[in-house]
Amino acid sequence: MNLHIVHRNRRKVNETISLLKAKLEEIGITVNTWLSSPDGVHIDKPGGVALLWGCRPKVTGVGHFINKHSATALAANKTEFRKVLQGHDDIAVPMSWFEIPFGIQHMFPVIVRPAYHAAGKKFFYCLTMNQLKAAIIKCGPGYYISKYIPKDREFRVYVYAGYVMAVSEKIPGDKTDPAWNKSKDSTTSFKNVLWSNWPIEACKEALKAFAISGLDIGAVDVIRKDDQAYVIEINTSPTISGTYRVDVLARYLKYMLKSIDTYNEKPYNSKDVQQMKRTRDMRYAELQEM
Ligand SMILES: Nc1ncnc2c1ncn2[C@@H]1O[C@H](COP(=O)(O)OP(=O)(O)O)[C@@H](O)[C@H]1O
Ligand SMILES: [Mg+2]
Repeated sequence: MNLHIVHRNRRKVNETISLLKAKLEEIGITVNTWLSSPDGVHIDKPGGVALLWGCRPKVTGVGHFINKHSATALAANKTEFRKVLQGHDDIAVPMSWFEIPFGIQHMFPVIVRPAYHAAGKKFFYCLTMNQLKAAIIKCGPGYYISKYIPKDREFRVYVYAGYVMAVSEKIPGDKTDPAWNKSKDSTTSFKNVLWSNWPIEACKEALKAFAISGLDIGAVDVIRKDDQAYVIEINTSPTISGTYRVDVLARYLKYMLKSIDTYNEKPYNSKDVQQMKRTRDMRYAELQEM
């Protein structure tokens, strides 16, 4: 079995991919890695499956994708994805606006971000109208504004094919910093949350957001305030480091490749999609009852 992983050339991404490649090869999967390029990526090995890891170049030469282009593109455009999420009444997101609404002065503090962002960069915490306007200019067209939630905890929920595979908690170096994923003194850390302590509300919100994303693999960022969980984004190239995490992801990918093989290289036929949806619905029903 052959897997082509297409990824960007970033230190942390490269580290995750090399750990994953080693593990996959250990369990019998041949892996080729490809750097994403604006000119596209041509994989000249018929029959393979490509995993788009946090990127969406035009990929030719393979018939099947894990994290297909359209889903990866939607998750990457944080503004568009927030609009989609907010359009679903049953998914909790921080209240968001895509232009300055009437009465915004009663909503401060708010956060302004550009459509594409990562690692806490271009994060503007605004307390006044002047700060808001300046932030919008810095973010440019396609920005989004969201109500700042004075969160008490923050989680990252790793979802593979509609299942929660792992949860980690972000422990900020400085709790008063509005963004917990960056820290002036770099002391923000991720702590693994044991299965018995999984935050059910955060998992539920993450699963609902994942289901509408169309992704196969994603790490959902969820903040929590007084037991109310809010989805903020889905990452398609999360850093995966611990042996156990890498192992789980590798095994999931192997399982996925196997099912592609079994279905005579038609992984996304309607039967599969229906089965996946049924599985997800069952999971939700299960979670609702918890
Ligand atoms: N509406 C919000 N209320 C409170 N904190 C937020 C809000 N949006 C984002 N944050 C904080 O900012 C951090 C970065 O936001 P996020 O949407 O995950 O973008 P990225 O990780 O791409 O920078 C989050 O980890 C969280 O701590
Ligand atoms: Mg994030």
